[in-house]
Amino acid sequence: MHLHGIHSPFIYALQRQCLLEPCEDALKERLVRFRESVKKNPQKLQITDHGAGSKYLDNHSRSTDAILKHNCTPPRRAELLTQLAQYLHAKKVLELGTSLGVGTAALALSAEKVTTVEGSPAIHQYASQRFVDQKLLNINAIRDTFQDFLKGTKDNKPEGFYDLIFIDGHHDGDATARYFELLLPYCHEHTLLIIDDIYWSTSMTRAWKKLQKHPRVTASVDTFQWGLLFLRTEQRQQSFYIKV
Ligand SMILES: C[S@@+](CC[C@H](N)C(=O)[O-])C[C@H]1O[C@@H](n2cnc3c(N)ncnc32)[C@H](O)[C@@H]1O
Repeated sequence: MHLHGIHSPFIYALQRQCLLEPCEDALKERLVRFRESVKKNPQKLQITDHGAGSKYLDNHSRSTDAILKHNCTPPRRAELLTQLAQYLHAKKVLELGTSLGVGTAALALSAEKVTTVEGSPAIHQYASQRFVDQKLLNINAIRDTFQDFLKGTKDNKPEGFYDLIFIDGHHDGDATARYFELLLPYCHEHTLLIIDDIYWSTSMTRAWKKLQKHPRVTASVDTFQWGLLFLRTEQRQQSFYIKV
């Protein structure tokens, strides 16, 4: 969409001052180092699939190289995660779906504290090691299913309010819509929810379209890969397209 077509000062500023801006070199460098730490520590990991599976990889055992290539946030989008957290002054962040920790690391570079949830024990353990290697000490990596975490069934549960929530796992439309409802009590009016892979399947696209019309959602931004949902009360319900 052409910038002059965006009739929302908030979304216009978000695009101009964040989404279209290049990432700071120092942050970029940290993200490159994180990916390198994965490449330097190749392993085969046992996968417990709690989600909708992968379109590219066979189940059960995967190399970290293949996971990095097919399941992790690519470099430019990892930069955007860190830029979004910085732009929104996000203090507390929640990520559903740690995988090898690429997105978590990006968020942790700009936020005060990141809680990330991963259901696969071997993946959780591998990512936790990378966070220690890279001295990312503001990450609380939890091994749990999204459902059990959000319902507080076991030891860990969401706490307080999150400024930014990244839903990046279990790419099933009904599950995503359910997680959104379970997350609402932990959102304030300036929380940003990012949903990954909104065009991954018809069920994801259906859920995205439904969430855009959810009574709590005001602005929604379709970036073609991510769906951004804002709950800001000063904004009337509007949808935007911004290719990033
Ligand atoms: C696409 S990857 C996450 C990528 C990561 N956020 C990044 O930015 O690189 C999704 C991860 O979520 C985990 N996952 C999927 N469904 C889950 C569920 N229901 N509960 C817990 N973990 C789940 C998978 O094991 C996988 O590691």
